[in-house]
Amino acid sequence: MQFELDIIKVVPPGDGCGYYNGKTVFVPATSPGDRVRVFSLRENRNTISAALQEVLIPSPERVEPPCPHYSKCGGCSLMHLDYKQQLELKRRMLIEVLNNQGIQWDPQVVPSSEITRFRHKTRIRCVDGQLGFSERQSNRIVEVPECQILTEEILSTLKRLGQLGRSNAEYQLLQSCKTGGVGVSILEGKQLVPLPGFEPSIEEDYGFGPLVLHSHGFAQSNPFITTSIIKDLQYHSGASGFICELFCGCGTFSLALAATTPQLIGYDISPLSIQTAKETLQRQNLNHVEFAAINLNKLKELPAVDVIVADPPRKGLGQHLCRLISGSKARKLLYVSCNPASLARDIRELTGQGGFELVEMKGYDMYCHATHLEAMAVLVRQV
Ligand SMILES: C[S@@+](CC[C@H](N)C(=O)[O-])C[C@H]1O[C@@H](n2cnc3c(N)ncnc32)[C@H](O)[C@@H]1O
Repeated sequence: MQFELDIIKVVPPGDGCGYYNGKTVFVPATSPGDRVRVFSLRENRNTISAALQEVLIPSPERVEPPCPHYSKCGGCSLMHLDYKQQLELKRRMLIEVLNNQGIQWDPQVVPSSEITRFRHKTRIRCVDGQLGFSERQSNRIVEVPECQILTEEILSTLKRLGQLGRSNAEYQLLQSCKTGGVGVSILEGKQLVPLPGFEPSIEEDYGFGPLVLHSHGFAQSNPFITTSIIKDLQYHSGASGFICELFCGCGTFSLALAATTPQLIGYDISPLSIQTAKETLQRQNLNHVEFAAINLNKLKELPAVDVIVADPPRKGLGQHLCRLISGSKARKLLYVSCNPASLARDIRELTGQGGFELVEMKGYDMYCHATHLEAMAVLVRQV
């Protein structure tokens, strides 16, 4: 079924939304003020999921997407908006998510200093010999030789991967800002493992000495905004006493904070990440920092630290860890999150009866042109 409608607003995860015959219609790659013709893909009692066929009257916010793959590729969903509008949209979405938990805050969203060629880490699939990102609203693959968000080095590594002749595979690529080198791993079952013939790890430097990161583990995707997050972590932790980092991965944030603290411990479930973090410690000869591989969901008690830094996966800290933090001696929590919804839920748990007060909240545009948003909340113990 084809029909026309006006797009009224954008809703998470970034689809334009309007109304038709009493139903709410969701259309990716549209913006408020667009008059569009769409065709319906799926329909139920109250909603229609539709695909854009033609923009009949463009919104004043609309710009020509700089990427030739944008109309098909599912990798980016906001490139039809001017960058300032993208940031404003994310700011409004963050406010809405916070309001849903009864939190009144007007956060700023920190822009990325680079908005093309900013992605230093990517997951990419090869299906029936085609290597690329998933097509928007489908499972097919779009090849992306002129992708605007990946670095030149990652694009040329993709060419090399294409020449391997594999018909089905999934890769993770990670590029160092320091050396330009690209590490490559491949998915085997549910596990990423180094891909033979390519470097498994890279050496990175965010301004506090060499840091080892591996392509088969966690690393931040956008080094430009990671630098902004690190500066804010350093500012808010100040000259702290004992710091504990929960979900520390290979230790990117811990190592950035190591210089200004007398003692630091980082925990992560991944033995490989902890081993990599320890490798960096050895190279930098840091004796006051420790890392340990533990499952934080099973932790019974936190050490008597002054400041907690946490950067959990999308599901957030959850009730168990929120309660441990509330019952700990920590006077400050710096909570970095890739999912504002779980962050807002946890802030509600930690404030009020939880004993903490929210004193700062910012978004960080880690994923330019997509709707995902990184955020950081600063919570201090109420006196
Ligand atoms: C968003 S990453 C944060 C990484 C780190 N901040 C960095 O910049 O590299 C989340 C981390 O949580 C870890 N993780 C997931 N579940 C965990 C658990 N139950 N206990 C401890 N760590 C866990 C993952 O291994 C991953 O390193």
